[in-house]
Amino acid sequence: MEKEAKIYISGHSGLLGSALVRCLKKIGYTNLLVKTSEEIDLRNQREVESFFEKEKPDYVIHAAARVGGIKANMEKPAQFIYDNIQMETNVINSAWKYGVKKLLFISSNCIYPKDAKQPFQEDSLGTGKIESTNEAYGMAKLAGMAMCKAYNTQYKTNFISVIPCSLFGPGDNFDPEGSHLIPALIRKFYEAKINNLSEAVLWGTGTPRREIMYVDDAAEACIFLMNNYNSSEPINAGIGKDYSIKEIAEMIKEIIGFKGKMVQDISKPDGINKKLIDSSKIYSLGWKPNIDIIEGLKKTFNWYKDSFDNNKELSHV
Ligand SMILES: NC(=O)c1ccc[n+]([C@@H]2O[C@H](COP(=O)([O-])OP(=O)(O)OC[C@H]3O[C@@H](n4cnc5c(N)ncnc54)[C@H](OP(=O)(O)O)[C@@H]3O)[C@@H](O)[C@H]2O)c1
Repeated sequence: MEKEAKIYISGHSGLLGSALVRCLKKIGYTNLLVKTSEEIDLRNQREVESFFEKEKPDYVIHAAARVGGIKANMEKPAQFIYDNIQMETNVINSAWKYGVKKLLFISSNCIYPKDAKQPFQEDSLGTGKIESTNEAYGMAKLAGMAMCKAYNTQYKTNFISVIPCSLFGPGDNFDPEGSHLIPALIRKFYEAKINNLSEAVLWGTGTPRREIMYVDDAAEACIFLMNNYNSSEPINAGIGKDYSIKEIAEMIKEIIGFKGKMVQDISKPDGINKKLIDSSKIYSLGWKPNIDIIEGLKKTFNWYKDSFDNNKELSHV
């Protein structure tokens, strides 16, 4: 991507979108196009088409989505499938219609068949059933990747798809109703600490394993792929290592300095037991993650604490 090219980053106010804007600016991209969901509801075909017609972006990174943790996914599967399919359909079709040179679709590691051999390799996609707790969201992601491939085949576009592992960092969603694992743990431990509680209760057994990556690494992987990857085949981007939820919780407890007990509520669902992805393909092209997990967790907690203590508006809270 040329430094002065017009790059539309959908979902720029979210976790990954904000990191993309931060990282693109840092390396000298000057012409970034962003809109909030209030300015353009990406589910609305007419709004999206007239936006693309007017702005004609050169490149698109589609990071907008309805995203949430296991609770939100289980309670609102219809919203997850509808919103995500509407958004990706509108963005991908308009990108083709208005001549976008290249588009990156952000998929998710939860699309792999739950019984596929781990670490998940890209060629095991579509070979079995995905985890039921995120089926609606996962099916929408599979549809988005299939759309990119279909448009490349029929219309000779250059639309690529990345499959990141689970992400965390500043700007994450700390809403107790919708958050992912890391923000949920940070919030629980910090609230337990400042309220002098003797224990903090965590969902599930703590034994499932998760591959987590600091969001700036994910943003750099996206920029790397925009500059170095031109294939319809989706590509994984992760750290190549996973931790049990209990290990992650221990790290966060230590960083926050909560001295009480950590209690597991095993009546709550665990989700998939393990979802490590194989990132050897992107590593062989020359990208590698840089940020150590503890360092990333400290940065994320400091961002949350600063926002919480100063009563600033937290993203999505
Ligand atoms: N977080 C993870 O662990 C993870 C892991 C793998 C893949 N991903 C993928 O990475 C991408 C970004 O995820 P994220 O965690 O950064 O999500 P996020 O923090 O929840 O942000 C979602 C973004 O999407 C925008 N959005 C939602 N509905 C919209 C609508 N109807 N119209 C326009 N914009 C809308 C939001 O804008 P407003 O704030 O203006 O509503 C927000 O900027 C998603 O595709 C997700 O599937 C995430």
